[in-house]
Amino acid sequence: MSTVVIVGSQWGDEGKGKVIDYLASEADVVVRGQGGNNAGHTVVVGDEKYALHLIPSGVLYENTMNVIGNGVVVDPESLIKELDGLEGRGVNTDHIRISDRAHLVFPFHKEIDRLAEEARGAAKIGTTKKGIGPCYMDKVERSGLRVCDLLDENFEMKLRAQVAHKNKIIVNVYEGEALNADMIVEDYKRFAQRLRPYISDTIRIVYDAVKGNKKVLLEGAQGTLLDIDFGTYPYVTSSHPISGGFAIGSGVGPNKIEEVLGITKAYTTRVGMGPFVTELDDEIGEKIRVQGHEFGTTTGRARRCGWLDTVIVNYAARVNGMTAQSLMLLDVLTGFDEVKICTAYKYGEEIIEDYPASLAMLEKCEPVYETLPGWSEDITGAEKFEDLPVNCQNYVNRIEELTEVPVKIISIGPKRSQTIIRERVYRD
Ligand code: GDP
Ligand code: IMO
Ligand code: MG
Repeated sequence: MSTVVIVGSQWGDEGKGKVIDYLASEADVVVRGQGGNNAGHTVVVGDEKYALHLIPSGVLYENTMNVIGNGVVVDPESLIKELDGLEGRGVNTDHIRISDRAHLVFPFHKEIDRLAEEARGAAKIGTTKKGIGPCYMDKVERSGLRVCDLLDENFEMKLRAQVAHKNKIIVNVYEGEALNADMIVEDYKRFAQRLRPYISDTIRIVYDAVKGNKKVLLEGAQGTLLDIDFGTYPYVTSSHPISGGFAIGSGVGPNKIEEVLGITKAYTTRVGMGPFVTELDDEIGEKIRVQGHEFGTTTGRARRCGWLDTVIVNYAARVNGMTAQSLMLLDVLTGFDEVKICTAYKYGEEIIEDYPASLAMLEKCEPVYETLPGWSEDITGAEKFEDLPVNCQNYVNRIEELTEVPVKIISIGPKRSQTIIRERVYRD
């Protein structure tokens, strides 16, 4: 096994950063292929905690190349802040490469994101306001500027034309305030010089690594239910966080992907608006939020919490072609008398097992639960599966049965050491 994709099987924040960091110790190259700094991946090393947004979670290993692929939208200001932050903490950043084809996020994207959310009123999406949607809109509309443009002699002219056009939208459509083009141009010229050494043809790097049978880790951001096609549209992000997204977001041929590792939280969370069938608006939901520290890495917002939903995980398993799972934050479910798994939805008199497209229908779906006995023993020090209390083992076994995807990794705490490997992902 040498080319492995990591995907979130729910609505993001499943613990992808921890698994990527864990596997990156063995990987030669880690690649981001979509999204931007809307992602927030937490990596805990000893007593140190790193919140990564654009930089791949393999950065803490000096021998691992970290690629920001062509499908990512790059906010240079945020990226430089992240680079400076890491360097300030003694982390080497020489082994980072940014695709010359990646699209750039500008202040007008963030401003339009904010104004569009305001204009949506009660129908707002609950975006991270990082300008992600507006940047992908420009990409698809074919008016975006890319990382390679930063180094082009016509960059200033192109940027000024963009600012003038976006200011018309900001002022005339949203009644906002025009942005200062001179300041933006100055800032981006500075950013270009700072980022110049990292800019590269990353498609060649990824190709050579795959061809040379190197260990390649494709780092998904967000989660399947936030996918623009497969997610709870319109309450989604503007990219493809599924495994197939990497074919277009990093340039790796789809037939080269050997393992699709779904990162599944032992319960469900969601940030932002949109339907959530197993959401718990009660003291159980609150207990999960507190025990799991469920507050966003990027925006600090409280995450909505609920029981595990295998209608969602099964759907994610299908659209990603999941071959294995990593079950995360299992320790958070310690101390409940019983734990529940949603195995189907009840829609009127009908029982549904496929995730519906219609939000109106989802709003009316009731969870069909299977209830299992809980466990109260602390599991954060377990070293192998057999160390877990029997009820906890049964919970994991039942998830495997319901999803038909083997749980190769179990995470029982945020630290690297709090990881049970049942079967290795990379084989020599
Ligand atoms: P990502 O966006 O998928 O990378 O996930 P986030 O980093 O946004 O959120 C996951 C949070 O859970 C982070 O704060 C991690 O440090 C933490 N975490 C990861 N795995 C575990 C686990 O097994 N147990 C506990 N208690 N926390 C975990
Ligand atoms: P990681 O990689 C959880 C959500 C936002 C909002 C919707 C659209 O940390 O799992 P956007 O700013 O992307 O246009 O917002 O998507 N969202 C995430 N939720 N984890 C993420 O990333 C997310 N990235 C975006 O909250 O509901
Ligand atoms: Mg996150």
